[in-house]
Amino acid sequence: MKSEEIRKKFLDFFKEKGHKIVPSSSLLPTDPSVLFTTAGMQQFKEYFLGKKSPFGKRVTSCQKCFRTSDIEEVGNDRHLTFLEMLGNFSFGDYFKKETIEWALEFLTGLCKIPNSKLWFGYFKGDSNVPEDKESYKILQKLGIPKNRIYGFGREDNFWGPTGEEGPCGPTCEVHYDLTQESCSKGKDCIPNCECGGFIEIWNLVFNEYYQDRNKKLTPLKQKGVDTGMGLERLAMVLQGKSSVFETDLFTSVIKEIEKQSSQSYTDNPKAYRIMADHIKGAVFLASEGVIPSNLEQGYTLRRILRRAIRFGKLLNLPKNSLIPIAQKATAIYQDIYPKVKTQEADILTILQNEEEKFEKTLERGLKEFRYQIEKCQEKIIPGRVVFDLYQSYGFPLELTEELAKEEGLKVDKQGFEGALKKHQEISRAGVEKKFGGVGKEATHQAAKLHTATHLLHQALREVLGEHVKQMGSDITPQRLRFDFSHPAKLTEDELKKVEDLVNQKIKEDLKIQKEEMSYEKAIRAGALAFFKEKYPEKVKVYSIGDFSKEICGGPHVSHTGELGHFKIIKEESSGAGVRRIRAIPK
Ligand code: SER
Repeated sequence: MKSEEIRKKFLDFFKEKGHKIVPSSSLLPTDPSVLFTTAGMQQFKEYFLGKKSPFGKRVTSCQKCFRTSDIEEVGNDRHLTFLEMLGNFSFGDYFKKETIEWALEFLTGLCKIPNSKLWFGYFKGDSNVPEDKESYKILQKLGIPKNRIYGFGREDNFWGPTGEEGPCGPTCEVHYDLTQESCSKGKDCIPNCECGGFIEIWNLVFNEYYQDRNKKLTPLKQKGVDTGMGLERLAMVLQGKSSVFETDLFTSVIKEIEKQSSQSYTDNPKAYRIMADHIKGAVFLASEGVIPSNLEQGYTLRRILRRAIRFGKLLNLPKNSLIPIAQKATAIYQDIYPKVKTQEADILTILQNEEEKFEKTLERGLKEFRYQIEKCQEKIIPGRVVFDLYQSYGFPLELTEELAKEEGLKVDKQGFEGALKKHQEISRAGVEKKFGGVGKEATHQAAKLHTATHLLHQALREVLGEHVKQMGSDITPQRLRFDFSHPAKLTEDELKKVEDLVNQKIKEDLKIQKEEMSYEKAIRAGALAFFKEKYPEKVKVYSIGDFSKEICGGPHVSHTGELGHFKIIKEESSGAGVRRIRAIPK
């Protein structure tokens, strides 16, 4: 069964059972406590907590997911960063019985998987949550013999919450028996066995609890169901393959890498898999407007791209080979997720730029790494060396960690973080110095430009759209510089609109208000924030009338009227998908 058919069959099956098909949400979630969408339930989180679902009580979806937690695992036969999750959900409607029955009906009926190849895990209970006897009984009633049902603990059979708090509960997992033979463990070779003879294909979560920030569980008023089945894994089973990379969701990508490298997949499957997965993941992240950077989502994109580039080097891929490989990934998904096609030019530019940038330093960085490990007396690479590789050669921390691991070494992570912090403090001090020395006037000028930056940011979002994100800014006493994500050069008309809007807000002499609150509350209140990981527990939120609201350290003026007049003097490109504006007060 082709993956396309599997997706359709799943959604149609649940549609027939009264579910509304809901499109995949973005890979970039609205929940500020998580970086990416990692599960199908995320877009429905509130409906599990009692908010009325506009789609009704039963929904089904095929959700794009990105899992940073699995980056290191990629290379084996089943883990991926980007994956699609098929799911059915109930918000206070059906519960365990229907969920388990339908899962069996779909797998054995529609997918024709022999019942004998399906094994099950359920929650065996612990000091906080009782054993899920109900699921066990349902499975037995459905004719599953005892020797294919096993109880597991929290690690395996309890799910959630995503982020810092939310719905969670015991799970019933469906495993597929790949080998139908026990490993050396004999009878103890059961699901979750390290031998890999079983693969978990479907996770049926029974959301019965709410876990708060202190990890305290309270029963939910309304019970819910959240299931998730990896499309790639199901395709692997149904297409009779031994890894997700051999399914139709990967073959053209792997073939292209083979073509570029003039070696074969079987020579080094790990390298091929990492490249195929990471390039696909990068295509999807870039399609959602993520740009490589040193922060948050941008950092993840940089990390996977640079890891792919490094493995590409091991396979002797020629320069600029990411593009044709990425194009194969795009072709697989263009009908399902049209954005990968409509944004293709931007995506490819982003990939190419990152490849060109890293190409320049990778070789020298690897030399430096080898030199340093030879010098290294201990089994730990010092933090300042790791920082130098990061700062001078663009090696993400995790890349150095991986290289070190391959040599049987570790890295001093704390030392690295200390060096990074020190570096950031020095840059900040540099900025302050720029404004310092000339007294009050300089401070006021800095505050004015700071406020102007917030007005400009909001004006850009109103004129160009909400995709505009601050990518960086720099102010000197003379001018402000503002970098933001936007795919195209601004037209004269757009620039004028932005400038006029800022000047209008200056004229309105809006009041600037400062409040302190938790990060989460700030985000809920609609404050813009793009450098999340740097923020402390309590943040300052600056509002300019009701025009702009941003998390920021300040300082700002008290009224926009103090700014006088605002003029854009230049608009230019600052890398793929990033524009730069310079403006002055007049
Ligand atoms: N939320 C669960 C998972 O991601 C089931 O959808 O595995």
